[in-house]
Amino acid sequence: MTIEKNVSLQPFNTFGIDAKAASYCNISTVETLIQTLKTQNGNPLFILGGGSNMLLTKDIEALVLHINLKGIKVIDETENKVTVKAMAGENWHQFVLWCLEHNYGGVENLSLIPGNVGTSPIQNIGAYGVELKDVFMSCDAINIADQNTKTFTKNECKFGYRESVFKQDLKGEYIITSVTFELTKTNHKLHTDYGAIKQQLEHFNITEPTIQEVSKAVIAIRQSKLPDPKEIGNSGSFFKNPIISIDQFKKLQENFPDVPSYKVSDTKIKVPAGWLIEKAGFKGKRFNDYGVHNKQALVLVNYGNAKGNDIFQLAQLIQKTIKRLFNITIETEVNII
Ligand code: EPU
Repeated sequence: MTIEKNVSLQPFNTFGIDAKAASYCNISTVETLIQTLKTQNGNPLFILGGGSNMLLTKDIEALVLHINLKGIKVIDETENKVTVKAMAGENWHQFVLWCLEHNYGGVENLSLIPGNVGTSPIQNIGAYGVELKDVFMSCDAINIADQNTKTFTKNECKFGYRESVFKQDLKGEYIITSVTFELTKTNHKLHTDYGAIKQQLEHFNITEPTIQEVSKAVIAIRQSKLPDPKEIGNSGSFFKNPIISIDQFKKLQENFPDVPSYKVSDTKIKVPAGWLIEKAGFKGKRFNDYGVHNKQALVLVNYGNAKGNDIFQLAQLIQKTIKRLFNITIETEVNII
């Protein structure tokens, strides 16, 4: 176990923000993780996964534990189903590709989502009609305080829209070390109803897609709309789509008949924050080295050497403007550090 001092976190966060860690430790085995936690004895810690869902607005005055646990293996299988366990430090998209190579279905709609396997349950990642919870079986996590390992079932994770127990009641208490998935080997259940996927498959002239083709469609859609963090720093959707009451939605629709929406329940409707932000005139706006992406207004970007605080202030301006114009509160999806 090597602890380095004063380490730049720029390569380890997809926003590409140059914040520093007071100390930093690369964790590649569960044993090292447990040993490190034991020696730290209550000292401040910061757990870093894929760095794809955070905005660093300051240096980290703590020991950063960079979770790089690797490995993917089949732990059980029947004729139709397979149980796969992936370690927390595996890159999410590499894991999806591994599943597609083995023809294991369930995660194809979640292709190209930045981040690691271990952080996928924390915000219940989702895209194009599928959420992590749909394929999740359990995850193993270490309690930071006593170093005991606990296996969390799907129920215990309390998944919601970009939500889980790890962002709520148990925030900061556990480190996820692996995630176990239940996937299909045959009779894959395809989710191709999402408008953009249908159109993309039509464009490819595919009528009976395989899971690999669904993944290709998702990749094409994402590449056309979402910036690649390797080229332009970003954290995907910066805000969550707000869920409002039907009454409030009807009022909004009177003024803006073209507002898109998704029904959540008989009383609630989800409105795309990207649409609200575009209507408010922010789409494609650039301020020095940061701004709002020109193809998807839900994504804030770092064009070069932006400071985390600049992006945070832009986010606050967007939130205030949306509140003033539409009387809707939009919450950040990204963790502000
Ligand atoms: N829209 C606009 N302007 C924009 C962006 C979107 O008018 O600049 C409109 C679109 O025309 C469409 C609607 O908003 O009618 C929804 O847009 P899109 O399908 O792009 O999805 P989203 O609601 O903006 C969510 C997720 C994405 C996920 C996509 C596809 C959240 C916060 N974001 O975005 O997730 O890829 O659906 O399922 O729920 C992420 O979490 O980082 C992420 C990229």
